[in-house]
Amino acid sequence: MEKDIEALLAEHPFFKDMSAPYRALIAGCGKNVRFDAGQLIAKTGDVANQFFAIRHGRASIELHAPEKGPLILQTLEAGDILGWSWLFPPYRWTFDARAIEQIRAISFDGECLRGKCDRDPAMGYDFMSGSRRCSWTACRRHACSSWICMEPPPIEPMLSAAFRVRKNRRETADTRTLELVPRDETEAPAWRPGQFMMLYVFGVGEIPISISGDPAQREAIVHTVRAAGAVSRAICEAKPGFAIGVRGPFGSAWPMGECEGDDVVLVAGGIGLAPLRPVLYAIMADRARYRRVSLLIGARTPDILLYPREFDRWRARDIDVRVTVDAAALGWEGSVGPVTTLVPRADFEHSRASAFIVGPEIMMKFAVQALSDRGVPRERLFVSMERNMKCAIGFCGHCQLGPAFICKDGPVFAYPRLEPWLVIRNI
Ligand SMILES: Cc1cc2nc3c(=O)[nH]c(=O)nc-3n(C[C@H](O)[C@H](O)[C@H](O)COP(=O)(O)OP(=O)(O)OC[C@H]3O[C@@H](n4cnc5c(N)ncnc54)[C@H](O)[C@@H]3O)c2cc1C
Ligand code: FES
Repeated sequence: MEKDIEALLAEHPFFKDMSAPYRALIAGCGKNVRFDAGQLIAKTGDVANQFFAIRHGRASIELHAPEKGPLILQTLEAGDILGWSWLFPPYRWTFDARAIEQIRAISFDGECLRGKCDRDPAMGYDFMSGSRRCSWTACRRHACSSWICMEPPPIEPMLSAAFRVRKNRRETADTRTLELVPRDETEAPAWRPGQFMMLYVFGVGEIPISISGDPAQREAIVHTVRAAGAVSRAICEAKPGFAIGVRGPFGSAWPMGECEGDDVVLVAGGIGLAPLRPVLYAIMADRARYRRVSLLIGARTPDILLYPREFDRWRARDIDVRVTVDAAALGWEGSVGPVTTLVPRADFEHSRASAFIVGPEIMMKFAVQALSDRGVPRERLFVSMERNMKCAIGFCGHCQLGPAFICKDGPVFAYPRLEPWLVIRNI
């Protein structure tokens, strides 16, 4: 005789540590399902109102890349959980899932479960914390698949803290730098260069923005924001005193420790200088730890260069700052051309250099090429990636690039890890 759902959950690694009353509530949203070998379990773009606790059999997670056909990102097996898209709007599958062999699973109705979590937030927390507890390496053992696992974030990851705008300074026609301070006058959270925050404007939306300030300065968090759409425009227009919700910090950091004693080359395109500015602050605070430091900046036109007032201060700390623009009017005395044209002129020893690159993806690809041509080993090239984000903690799949989640595996990556995916168009 088939066991009831509650008894099956008590044996499933994902649910077995949950409190029995919560497990009983969740069981009310579940039913037994089977899929035959080869059968599609979920299809990209379809409404995602279910997730599955696999009991027997194996499934593949597939992504369809234009011109490449299906790519298997991961295989899941008994004890794993399949699917988190039901948790986050727009509740659509972001991948295909297929049974490799016959699968027996418990299927949960997302709407039913969301309703129960809304009515009993403590149960929702208990449920979510099951997946947050597991680390990357412990995934299989604790039955979470790696696309939902992460190291526990430093603070409550889905709760915005209330900050207020202390200063809002104009950088260019569409870009502002804001200082945000906690409303309760506590210290802002610690963070590392390269990390980002999720900034929430009440009633408008939430977006990821890199931290562009000094990591040693803990009373405010500084962000440089370009008005690209509704949320970023609302942030740019925020006056001193305006309340903004802040979650984070999230993501990986620039590998500054690994570069100590070596040459550092920073390549920034446009707004890409913002996530590199904390690296400059950190280097200036401990200049003797690094050998030659080159900063290569590219912008479309001189009037959209970020932080021009700071260039002389950086140069005074023995940082070789070079600037180029795509197009300039008469009177511009700097270089004209893409930022890659600065690479052959920059002063660094290729065998002892690491490069941090941020900008549009096409610019990063050419910068990688130019640095490789000068002999910098590819594993010492680091890029920071941008993708649309919702959760920032590896749950929703919005930021996925190949097997990586930009929000939790990145945004900073060693280039060789992403290279196979960056060569696929439209991915
Ligand atoms: C890790 C990370 C760090 C970022 N750091 C900064 C930063 O320091 N400063 C800054 O100004 N912006 C940064 N961005 C980009 C910023 O998040 C987007 O500009 C913002 O999400 C746009 O949202 P919106 O609602 O204002 O506009 P929308 O209406 O959502 O979008 C406006 C335009 O921007 C494009 N867009 C939306 N989201 C992104 C995105 N994540 N990446 C690239 N293009 C996007 C849209 O396709 C559209 O063309 C970062 C993004 C990521 C992922
Ligand atoms: S998985 Fe949700 S934003 Fe990365």
